[in-house]
Amino acid sequence: MTEPRTLPARTAIGIDIGGTGIKGAVVDLGTGELLSDRRKVATPDGAKPADILEATDRMLDGLREEFGALPVGVCFPAIVKGGRTLSAANISDDWIGLPAEAMFEERLQVPIHFVNDADAAGHAEVRFGAARGRSGVVLLTTLGTGIGSALLHNGVLVPNTELGHLEIDGQGAEKGAAYSAKERESLSWEQWAERLQRYYSHLELLFSPDLFIVGGGVSKNYADFLPLLHLQTEIVPAVHRNNAGILGAADLAAAGHGLGKHAAPVAGA
Ligand code: BGC
Repeated sequence: MTEPRTLPARTAIGIDIGGTGIKGAVVDLGTGELLSDRRKVATPDGAKPADILEATDRMLDGLREEFGALPVGVCFPAIVKGGRTLSAANISDDWIGLPAEAMFEERLQVPIHFVNDADAAGHAEVRFGAARGRSGVVLLTTLGTGIGSALLHNGVLVPNTELGHLEIDGQGAEKGAAYSAKERESLSWEQWAERLQRYYSHLELLFSPDLFIVGGGVSKNYADFLPLLHLQTEIVPAVHRNNAGILGAADLAAAGHGLGKHAAPVAGA
């Protein structure tokens, strides 16, 4: 049997579970560099908890032998509170109320930390990207199948803001303004930007942010749509697109979350 390799002081595995794929890698949290290749498997049809757990376990094969037992951070497109997944916008409803952290820990036998996917991306930008060293209110939005949000104040995350579900013109904002809406309705950049303008103006009114960061795969095309927006707030693309969730989830997992953290709080403590 080969010995696990010697690793930097802070190392963890980050996993990003999405509606279409499950991605993962080992991360050096001193630098934000990936220490392994980026693994990817397809999200099983229906995105049911047991099938996703099985696929995640398979994806980690080999990494465990090479790197040993590392904490694992998992980012997920749902509200996550106390290790439970509490919503299911583009995934199976079976996740609603599920003790996901405990379930993954039991199967994988390492400390697991679950976090909302946009929150992980926001944290990654604070540690290794566009929000590094920025004070004040930073609002990151990810434009993809849905819209995810991460609200940060002086680098500290306020979790589960779910601002993709703000109601605009009688419907959840992500229905009309996510990147999936641009694709589904074959909108031009200009047509899509009109919807984004309405969305970001509303966020600006509510939060008076100091910086907007735009993430999600489409942010690589930021030059096609960010210049079309007229806002008072600086708006920049995310530095980390594909790896943002992996980096943020790994960093939060390494920040000292461990087995046994699911115990109910003691009344009056
Ligand atoms: C979900 C969020 C998630 C976002 C991006 C939304 O539909 O409600 O929890 O962060 O999609 O995946």
